[in-house]
Amino acid sequence: MTITTCIFDAYGTLFDVDAAARQVAKQPGQSQLAAVWATLAKDWRAKQLEYTWLRAIGGRHIPFWQVTQDALDWAMENNGLYDNALRAKLLAVYKECPAYPEVIPMLKALKEKGVNIAILSNGSPNMLVPAVRSSGIGEYLDDVLSVEDAGIFKPHASVYDLVWDRFDVPQTEVLFASSNGWDAAGAAGYGFATVWVNRHDLPQDRLWATPHRTLKSLKTIPDLV
Ligand code: LAC
Repeated sequence: MTITTCIFDAYGTLFDVDAAARQVAKQPGQSQLAAVWATLAKDWRAKQLEYTWLRAIGGRHIPFWQVTQDALDWAMENNGLYDNALRAKLLAVYKECPAYPEVIPMLKALKEKGVNIAILSNGSPNMLVPAVRSSGIGEYLDDVLSVEDAGIFKPHASVYDLVWDRFDVPQTEVLFASSNGWDAAGAAGYGFATVWVNRHDLPQDRLWATPHRTLKSLKTIPDLV
């Protein structure tokens, strides 16, 4: 296959979604969070995704930044954390999510190969812009596509259409990479060549399509181009 365009999911794929809870838990005076940060991070992410699917099914779209706050409120309550200052700290770090360590070398290698590179994310622009800036990946990206332009969350086909609208290339030339098994499956069903970045050794999702390849990290993506 000839790949001319590489599209990346953002949260969990390029950006470390557990970083906010992990980093704030290390700050002085955060012993309560330190005891539960891993569960909080897991609950936060699970509810965030669940709410996107429910809002898509219910036709009740709101920006992902609001979904992220709603999910955090549920997760904090579920972990016995009632602290508005802590909530504000977690959200501030989440807005500037760091990238996983292999991301910059991988994007640099891809850029040298001359392919189009973009993000396609559920994230709203007011969170994607600061995360791209703080992680230092902006110089490698041709665009940052947000579901806000489709008005519905992944894996709705109109979200994957945004790639098609932006880059005038055949679908078969698009490589889509996501660490979310359901997102990789959705993109595979749509017609993109897909890579599932299975960072946590999870079983494959049983959905309507399966990703074409599974990798442990993004490191070897440039070899596929
Ligand atoms: C995203 C979510 C799925 O960035 O992580 O689209």
